[in-house]
Amino acid sequence: MKEKIIIFDTTLRDGEQAPGASLTFEQKLELAIQLERLGVDVIEAGFPVASPGDFKAVETIAGSIKKSIICGLARCLSKDIETAAKALHKARNPRMHIFLATSKIHLKYKFRKAEDEILALATRATRKARKLCPDIEFSPEDATRSDRKFLFKVIETVIAQGAKTVNIPDTVGYSYPQEMYSLIADIRDNVPNINKAVISVHCHDDLGLAAANSLSGILAGARQVHCTVNGIGERAGNASLEEIAMVVKTRKDSFKNIFTSINTKEIFRTSRLVSSLTGFVVPPNKAIVGKNAFAHESGIHQDAVLKKRNTYEIMNPKDVGIDKSQIVLGKHSGRHALAKRLEKLGFIFSDKKVNTIFKKFKILADKKKEVFDDDLIALAEEETKPLEKKCEFVSIKSITGTDIVPEAAVTLRYKNKVVTASSSGDGPIDACYRAIDKLVGVKAKLISYKLEALTIGKDAQGLVRVELKINKDNVFGRGASTDVLEASAKAYLDALNKKI
Ligand code: KIV
Ligand code: ZN
Repeated sequence: MKEKIIIFDTTLRDGEQAPGASLTFEQKLELAIQLERLGVDVIEAGFPVASPGDFKAVETIAGSIKKSIICGLARCLSKDIETAAKALHKARNPRMHIFLATSKIHLKYKFRKAEDEILALATRATRKARKLCPDIEFSPEDATRSDRKFLFKVIETVIAQGAKTVNIPDTVGYSYPQEMYSLIADIRDNVPNINKAVISVHCHDDLGLAAANSLSGILAGARQVHCTVNGIGERAGNASLEEIAMVVKTRKDSFKNIFTSINTKEIFRTSRLVSSLTGFVVPPNKAIVGKNAFAHESGIHQDAVLKKRNTYEIMNPKDVGIDKSQIVLGKHSGRHALAKRLEKLGFIFSDKKVNTIFKKFKILADKKKEVFDDDLIALAEEETKPLEKKCEFVSIKSITGTDIVPEAAVTLRYKNKVVTASSSGDGPIDACYRAIDKLVGVKAKLISYKLEALTIGKDAQGLVRVELKINKDNVFGRGASTDVLEASAKAYLDALNKKI
């Protein structure tokens, strides 16, 4: 029999508790609509007693969202419970989530209360909440650091008072997967009425184990997980929704007959929305949704992925809403990936030409972190020129500064010889062009000179376009390089070659 894992999304509550992540009421509504589209079962929309803004957000989301359960958080205090019930009154499927810490450290320092007082508070609060809302979830906060016997007692009591879900928080992200597994297993074995409730897990990521702990909880019998998009949340964050959903989907061998109702194709879009609304940039190496999650740079990987995608990809990027895996061309890329990309850009070359471009590409990739399509077009266009180059650029040296006369020494391959000439000029480019004029012996007048960045970033190639007047004719030339002086020389030579 198939078993569903209820996805309880707390991006709007615990996620919003992340320092600096506060969202406006309109943003919360926009995100709630997307979370419903993503297929989350429960949306924890906020903590109504915390502020009028939170109240309004929960109330509005409760009145707008029809499919997902809308949940409001409350402490075990009458005011909190009444306020949460009011905020939820328009919800088609309301849930109230009440919480109370059960660990010794919280009892001693936070509450200064004994266990029996906590038990009485939990009992009264659950009973009251149950009268105001049909669906109650109870969280013994800091459960993973609580005394087991006391924890079992609290869970048994709140279930007896009508809690339908008991959520086990690893509030401080202290647990590790085996521990989480045995805690959930122990709860199943030791709480007599546990079959009347769904067990849930709520894991924080202080030690980077939130998703792993949540998954262990599922393997031990939890049937609900609390999570947030991109894993945002208090301190190091919560278990990330996309990681849990994709582990369950990808590792069917371990998560046999287990499924979630997440429409995984909406994952990427939701992640982007959360990132843009909160201003929290998704790290490039973040699992599932990071920029590099489906990008391959190493030549060996690229070659294999182009032959058979799953040699290096365990998930299909389309399944998370990313159009396709990305072959990032950089210094580790191989000839195969380059040829494929050139083909995609409309350049079909012989193997010999590809080899020539590949050599130039490697030199460029050493200078730049990433080689973009426009960089490749520039390289490819150089090779498609029908012109036989009479004079070719070899190198340039230039001295320039605020208080000195600029000078340039240019070396060319001209008439099958390597020749060098130097000149001074009004600026380094003028000096360079004068040196070339000396070598080639052609009188050329510079009509126009344009420099633009071919791609983005400080390491982008500069593309220089020049127009020269030679005798009575106007000729055009272009040249690209990460060094603007080199690009300038190449553009000038490109134009000269058309006339020599
Ligand atoms: O981390 C936590 O314990 C919580 C509770 C409110 C469930 O967020
Ligand atoms: Zn939490």
